[in-house]
Amino acid sequence: MKLSAEEQAMLAGEQGRATQKAMQILLALGTIYGAGHMLPVTSVQIAGVSYDNLGDAGLQFLTEMAAGGGKSQVLTTLNPAGMDVENWQALGISPEFAEKQAQVIEAFARMNVVTTCTCTPYLTGNVPHYGEHLAWAESSAVCYANSVLGARTNREGGPSALAAALTGRTPAYGMHLEENRVPQLTVEVHADLCENDDFGALGKVIGAHLQSHTNAFVPYIRGIKSATLESLKSFCASLATYGGTALFHMEGITPEAGLFGPPADAIRISPMEIESAKSELSNGDLVSADFVSLGCPHLSIKEIARIAELLEGKQVVKEFWITTARPTKQIADRMGYSATIEASGAKFAADTCCVVAPIKGRFTALVTDSAKACYYAAGKNHFQTILKPFDEVVLAALGENPRESTE
Ligand code: F3S
Repeated sequence: MKLSAEEQAMLAGEQGRATQKAMQILLALGTIYGAGHMLPVTSVQIAGVSYDNLGDAGLQFLTEMAAGGGKSQVLTTLNPAGMDVENWQALGISPEFAEKQAQVIEAFARMNVVTTCTCTPYLTGNVPHYGEHLAWAESSAVCYANSVLGARTNREGGPSALAAALTGRTPAYGMHLEENRVPQLTVEVHADLCENDDFGALGKVIGAHLQSHTNAFVPYIRGIKSATLESLKSFCASLATYGGTALFHMEGITPEAGLFGPPADAIRISPMEIESAKSELSNGDLVSADFVSLGCPHLSIKEIARIAELLEGKQVVKEFWITTARPTKQIADRMGYSATIEASGAKFAADTCCVVAPIKGRFTALVTDSAKACYYAAGKNHFQTILKPFDEVVLAALGENPRESTE
């Protein structure tokens, strides 16, 4: 790879041990993927923050990078941690886990990383512009940044995202190159989609098609009449989970769709396929389900306002986690939504989520509106899952739809 004088100085250790290590990581990555040079990045988002995933080896790596003098060169935020950093006791997190998780966050803070722990950084101040180069790590956020915002990022691993933060660079390959943003498969959607679970199911269906089309990585989607920010974040999470997809174009909705015509290779999605995807994600019984969670990806303030409206003056009968970013929770506090929600017995789980928190063995079945949460609840925690529209998830927490159950 061709390195600039400044990049060569970093590699030679002139900016400290941590920056040297970071440049070594990026050089190795760029060499593997055939990058010709480095690109400056304007924003970084680091995953692998939960101690549940990192373990002691990950914590030691971060501690060493902080001790080596590493400092973030660009705006950098974190993916969700394994706990609500201010309210972990209420979520049943052990003091031992909390201590380790606090050390992880402290190590990031020492490297000047903004310790906002969220998979929706684009809702809380880490908002890239069209065409900017980034190094983001969380798969749903990567898909959202590339597709909805028109920024450019590969899906980084934890170490490569940290390396990008400490150097302000990323190797020029993959989604950073125009030729890799061209769609290969037209997806004609012949179904009316309204709710987050509809869009999540669509992501699962398209993801499965992409997995079976060997040379299709970027879909060009037609037939979506409208999509809210919330439904797009749900769609991105699902498409990235089930298809490994970092970029899609949606006609009339995403900014780069107009640069391309629909590819000749085309598939058609029917309403039946959407319904069948929903059924596959609902293998649990709604009445006996013992865990309810909304906020995968993290909730917007609009969604929290709706939860507060539905819970006003009522009491939940199941463990109900509302997962969001700390800054969004602070807006909810100011608006009085948090007080209404907490008076109902529901719990905020800011900074974390129902997938990265250490909850294996504590519950048996999850009710959610997120196709991505279903995937990980089953795969990581061995929970049964029930996928429902947003409002019905809240009603399930209240026990207000007791006659309904899934087969
Ligand atoms: Fe975010 Fe956790 Fe879902 S990181 S996308 S809420 S699995």
